[in-house]
Amino acid sequence: MVILDGKKISNEIKEEIAAEVSQMKERGEKVPHLAAVLVGNDGASLTYVGSKVRSCKKIGFESTLIHLPEETTEDELLKKVHQLNTDDSIDGYIVQLPLPKHIDEQKVLMAVDPDKDVDGFHPVNFGKMALDMESFISATPFGIMELLRRYKVDTEGKHVVVIGRSHIVGRPISILMSQKGEAANCTVTLTHSRTKNMTELTLQADIIVSALGVPHFLKEDMVKDGVVIIDVGITRVPDESKERGYYIAGDVDFESVSKKASFITPVPGGVGPMTIAMLLKNTLLARERHRNIK
Ligand code: GUN
Repeated sequence: MVILDGKKISNEIKEEIAAEVSQMKERGEKVPHLAAVLVGNDGASLTYVGSKVRSCKKIGFESTLIHLPEETTEDELLKKVHQLNTDDSIDGYIVQLPLPKHIDEQKVLMAVDPDKDVDGFHPVNFGKMALDMESFISATPFGIMELLRRYKVDTEGKHVVVIGRSHIVGRPISILMSQKGEAANCTVTLTHSRTKNMTELTLQADIIVSALGVPHFLKEDMVKDGVVIIDVGITRVPDESKERGYYIAGDVDFESVSKKASFITPVPGGVGPMTIAMLLKNTLLARERHRNIK
């Protein structure tokens, strides 16, 4: 069994990006600049955004955190988005999700300039991705593909069962793994909460990508020997014995499933760090694309 070490690979990717940034600096060019918009004080979002901004600093990017109060109106947020669209110093930005309930998430994501949409959430980028065109691929599915590529996991003709149909992970990864290319060429089954014969399907899977958000959902008796496991779940489970008051759980019962797996991602330290690395990669791509235009 091989652990797909997302922490290690993400550090390698960050070092590669940092080397490119040094070269940009030596040439006297502008370095990539990522902005992140956070509305409210959701604990997990604060952690993720903090981590994204810290990573920018480490690799030599410029970064701007725009932290708005929970009461921010939809109009105020849309104004901020338009400002970021027209600010030439910003190469790419993200609006951290989830947004407070009084704000229409879709309306905000639609307002982001697709050329600065390093999250790849805008329909233009999602559509281009689905049509094999150059776009920004969302960081989590992009990170999963990169992890599979770097470990040279054989995906050719394999049956992938994706659990969860979210716009951010399940839906895009099901498209990417069915496309032509490296870490792809798979036969994909996309399952979700209404799937009736889940275990029947997971037992047939050569590769399982679980993005459900239900701790320890996938058990040993649901997988076959040699399966490749990608665990995208990151759920905070209350635990008073921990100083933070919670622990982080994946969708997979790692203890038992890892005994049957050929490759498996741990939680934490698997897909999570890859997501940040690929957001940085997208920001570098945004800078390069803007440089080529301007
Ligand atoms: N919330 C959970 N994951 C993500 C992500 O990748 N990007 C943004 N903007 N919000 C998220």
